Amino acid sequence: MVINIEGLDFAYGAGKQTVPVLKNINLTFPEGQITAIIGQTGSGKSTLVQQLNALLKPTAGEVHIGDHTVTNKTKEKALTPIRAEVGMVFQFPESQLFAPTVIEDVMYGPKNFGATDEEAKQAAEKALAKVGFDTSLYDQSPFNLSGGQMRRVALAGVLAMNPQTMVFDEPAAGLDPQGQAELLDLLRTLRDEGKTIVLISHQMEQVLALANQVVVMKDGQVAAHEPVEELFARPQSWFADQHLDLPETIAFQKEMEKQGFVFDHLAKTVDDLAKQLAGQLDSAKLTGQRSDQAGSQAQTGGPHHE
Ligand SMILES: Nc1ncnc2c1ncn2[C@@H]1O[C@H](COP(=O)(O)OP(=O)(O)OP(=O)(O)O)[C@@H](O)[C@H]1O
Ligand SMILES: [Mg+2]
Repeated sequence: MVINIEGLDFAYGAGKQTVPVLKNINLTFPEGQITAIIGQTGSGKSTLVQQLNALLKPTAGEVHIGDHTVTNKTKEKALTPIRAEVGMVFQFPESQLFAPTVIEDVMYGPKNFGATDEEAKQAAEKALAKVGFDTSLYDQSPFNLSGGQMRRVALAGVLAMNPQTMVFDEPAAGLDPQGQAELLDLLRTLRDEGKTIVLISHQMEQVLALANQVVVMKDGQVAAHEPVEELFARPQSWFADQHLDLPETIAFQKEMEKQGFVFDHLAKTVDDLAKQLAGQLDSAKLTGQRSDQAGSQAQTGGPHHE
């Protein structure tokens, strides 16, 4: 399912009290890909993604969500099927939890869209297992959980509905490093299953590792929309202007380029960077020096890892 935004403006509030936030947005979210949305705080990322399942309707312009078209005039009733097709994990997961127990919370979505109790329970258990949620906590109140556990329940709530498109607003917030690594795997798996994923993130490493294309928001407008490799090939000064960081591997690569190193592609991982550097050192005929170093390390027992 493709989502296409055409000439969208959005303002919060009504009458004289309106606060314009999004201006002239034109974007396509391709099917089966991960689109990352980045940009400094307050640039309009969360406001933008809420247009993707019509939680917010455009003030002007149109949003095409599969076969549905949403405009300012679209009636609430017409929006219900969209909610089943586009699932959303909010920036603050506690804002989407409400049931007395974890299991009931995750069952709510499937039940709301027509599943029987038994089907909803199965879908909920499968989804909770997928996000690594501890079975002993199924009957707990979701409000007695830690931030990371709440995040997993909110994720499971969306997975249980199995929507074609899933939107994640900073899903790694509150997760420990292992939880974050598991989340990356989950998002990759969902993409490989053919889901369309939209991911808001402040973590550039995550964006580099996952995204096919990136949208950069600035002051409610699209400052860039391009494949991830193209984006991170932009100069460091451009990222500084957007108040954005570069992933560490790419920042390092760009510094090395200033020293005269030439890389044939952007390093997506530390491993990739190390391999490319080793190739550079060989071609710079520094091999002898490296072997000497290796020899002296061997004599002293090599580097110590403690
Ligand atoms: N409910 C609201 N009513 C009025 N203004 C709002 C509302 N929600 C957000 N805004 C304003 O809209 C602008 C964009 O906010 P939004 O939450 O979309 O930014 P964001 O890019 O998601 O930021 P962050 O990275 O901090 O999550 C901000 O200026 C914010 O103050
Ligand atoms: Mg936000």
